[in-house]
Amino acid sequence: MKLADCHNIDDFRRLAKKRLPFPVYDYIDGAADDETTKARNTSAFDHADLVPDVLAGVGAIDTSCTILGRKSALPLMLSPTALQRAFHTDGEMAVARAAEKFGVWFGISSLATHSIEDIATTTQGPKLFQLYVHKDKGLNASMIERCKAARFGALALTVDTIVSGKRERCLRSGFTTPPRFTPRSIWSYATRPRWTLDYIFGSKFRLPQLDGYVAEGTGKAVSIQDYFNTMLDTNMDWDTAARIRQDWGGTFALKGVMSAADARRAVEIGADAIMLSNHGGRQLDGSRSPFDQLPEIVDAVGGKIEIILDGGVRRGTHVLKSMAAGATAVSGGRLYLYALAAAGQAGVERALGILKDEIERGMRLMGITSVDQLTRERLRWR
Ligand SMILES: Cc1cc2nc3c(=O)[nH]c(=O)nc-3n(C[C@H](O)[C@H](O)[C@H](O)COP(=O)(O)O)c2cc1C
Repeated sequence: MKLADCHNIDDFRRLAKKRLPFPVYDYIDGAADDETTKARNTSAFDHADLVPDVLAGVGAIDTSCTILGRKSALPLMLSPTALQRAFHTDGEMAVARAAEKFGVWFGISSLATHSIEDIATTTQGPKLFQLYVHKDKGLNASMIERCKAARFGALALTVDTIVSGKRERCLRSGFTTPPRFTPRSIWSYATRPRWTLDYIFGSKFRLPQLDGYVAEGTGKAVSIQDYFNTMLDTNMDWDTAARIRQDWGGTFALKGVMSAADARRAVEIGADAIMLSNHGGRQLDGSRSPFDQLPEIVDAVGGKIEIILDGGVRRGTHVLKSMAAGATAVSGGRLYLYALAAAGQAGVERALGILKDEIERGMRLMGITSVDQLTRERLRWR
């Protein structure tokens, strides 16, 4: 199997599985507990059906929309994900360049493997920084200041990771950051020489946002579960969120809001957007899927705040269904991560090209020429 054989996101997943040592693949593909929420995030899209119109004259269509106050070429964002250098030697740089080519937002994790400054000079495209609130207040302030100086377009505060989810595949594989060879996994590394040689001889694995603050993640191998449970601030609350919103001063989103009550509070603290998300099923297993929860959230805060559906999106029609149900836009992690792992920038570009094509084809088959024509009348819940 090679890149040219990838025609949908699941194809990239299978290619990534072949190319990555299993602890790295399982870190991307895995989720919490029984992984029921991860599965439901995608299967939820089967609960609703699109109702097309025909004879609509769809020669010219416009896929653009406004996300976080800026025009985006597609109603799609790339969610922030940690440790991308472990998936491909070019890490975040590959994703940043692909996102810029397609005119879409790129989310950069607090646990990114390239610095805020290097990413800012690599891409002129819209950039969102994802903040994990650490116990070390100096580290939080430093990340916010660096994003301001680098002119990032938005900050998203992740609120669903107050402790780590129980990611059992990682417990079994012993996955750490930086990745480390263990007796159980050494065979898998040895039989993926391309990844292993890139990892050993390529640019050094670093978590530059943390440099000078914590040794974990860069100098010292640690599991992500231990990192979250020891480094992040379990006391984070609405006052913390309001304060960060103020310190940042720019476009601000809360990532990981699921309840209508929290969505209303997000409006109250002046957030510009919520990312309706359960962290791709990696945190609270048994949590409802963002798509199932979307109508409730739209009824509560629609029109008052941007609602970005995040999680489970694997198809252009999932994007169309979300927009029809009232989302401002959608976002996803694995939809580009499998492709990054499979083939770096070329992989991410191919994945985005496929999704763009699916969105365009879906719009034409729906008989619409712009995404704002996707309204609730175009959707039926089973
Ligand atoms: C490998 C991986 C790493 C992630 N790292 C982060 C992170 O550092 N910060 C964050 O807020 N969310 C992180 N997420 C969650 C994503 O931002 C996003 O919410 C999730 O991937 C959406 O689900 P999807 O993968 O089905 O699209 C990560 C997800 C994955 C798969």
